[in-house]
Amino acid sequence: MASDASAILAHTRSVVYLDDGEMVVLTRKGYHVRDLAATRINKPVNQIEWDLATIERGGYDHFMLKEIFEQCDTVRNTMRGHLLEEEGTARVSGLNLTDDDIKKIQRIVITACGTSWHSGLIGEYMLEELARIPVEVEYASEFRYRNPVVDQNTLVIGISQSGETADTLAAIREAKRRGARTIGLVNVVGSTIAREVDGGIYLHAGPEVGVASTKAFTSQVAALALITLRFARLRNLSILQGRQIIQAMKALPDQIQDILDRADDVKDLAERYWRSNNALYLGRGVNFPVALEGALKLKEISYIHAEGYPAAEMKHGPIALIDENMPVIFIAPKDAVHGKIVSNVEEVRARGGQVIAIKNNDDDQIKRLAAATFTIPETLDLLTPILAIIPLQLFSYYVAVRRGCNVDQPRNLAKSVTVE
Ligand code: AGP
Repeated sequence: MASDASAILAHTRSVVYLDDGEMVVLTRKGYHVRDLAATRINKPVNQIEWDLATIERGGYDHFMLKEIFEQCDTVRNTMRGHLLEEEGTARVSGLNLTDDDIKKIQRIVITACGTSWHSGLIGEYMLEELARIPVEVEYASEFRYRNPVVDQNTLVIGISQSGETADTLAAIREAKRRGARTIGLVNVVGSTIAREVDGGIYLHAGPEVGVASTKAFTSQVAALALITLRFARLRNLSILQGRQIIQAMKALPDQIQDILDRADDVKDLAERYWRSNNALYLGRGVNFPVALEGALKLKEISYIHAEGYPAAEMKHGPIALIDENMPVIFIAPKDAVHGKIVSNVEEVRARGGQVIAIKNNDDDQIKRLAAATFTIPETLDLLTPILAIIPLQLFSYYVAVRRGCNVDQPRNLAKSVTVE
């Protein structure tokens, strides 16, 4: 009997999941399941695919570091079997949406919490840019208690690594009550959210044990790219544009490996800044959610107060915080708004701020302006978050270790928030 299947993996791989309103009578001789009217229910026995070795740390000092280093494989696993190169689209049959259903979608609401909410923001940029469908991203804890405008033409996407987050589950149930189609982007197979939505995509990222979510985030963004590709190719995206996106997605695992091979450079950066008491993360466009996620990683495992902002928002207040003790991390790839980011870097420099920049290979402008830089390979603007977040995950990890924090089980936090 366990709240999470991985807790019993050392004893058995056969599990029976209970749904709400069900109970189990478990005795030495066996078990049976009943509903609240005491009527017996036959439940299927599921087999857990994960093995114990997968669960163990595999030689890494912490689960979080292991999971960061698994991301070439996990992003590849999320995409496996979905990319249809010839047609320049993605197979997402698990959504249980016909092409006609997809064409009828007039609005999308993405609801989640924490890191999953950040990947949802990236999904908004992707879906609106390519599929031209209006998207709103809602904190599940807010969505569930307000009076949202949701109907049968609304697709509600619930994003959850654990598939057990109480607020996200409640938001999905509220959306279903109002007639919306619901799909889930979930990592844990057989979890409550996975069983209650109308369809979905499993992330196939394997068990994520570290409380700070890392590989789930990059897999969520990859899964959102698959959905965007399918939806956009049923609307305005050409086959050639679709093939270009597929080529860029197939290149991601090797590009992730290229970043991970230089993890020691990030460790050196952490050595310079681990004593900071505050940090600011800034990005534009689809990299604004990356700034939010980078800040969340740092604050939740190192306890440094960190904030993420749209870079242009600085002059509306946060710039008052800038001084020589404040590291300001910019996500500054050579994308459509690169020139604007360079101006923001100059503004911070002019006020004595310490600029750390995530940049692309041949960006001498940023290199000249920043106190420290880390280079990531170039990819399509909308896929950059999958690469840009990795040095930020490593930075938060090495800073937290240097500060002697409990990286895998940070204070006050739980891996799955199954209560309000
Ligand atoms: C992320 O590092 C945190 N552990 C937390 O914000 C988490 O993302 C949030 O609780 C949502 O969890 P879920 O994806 O399992 O629903």
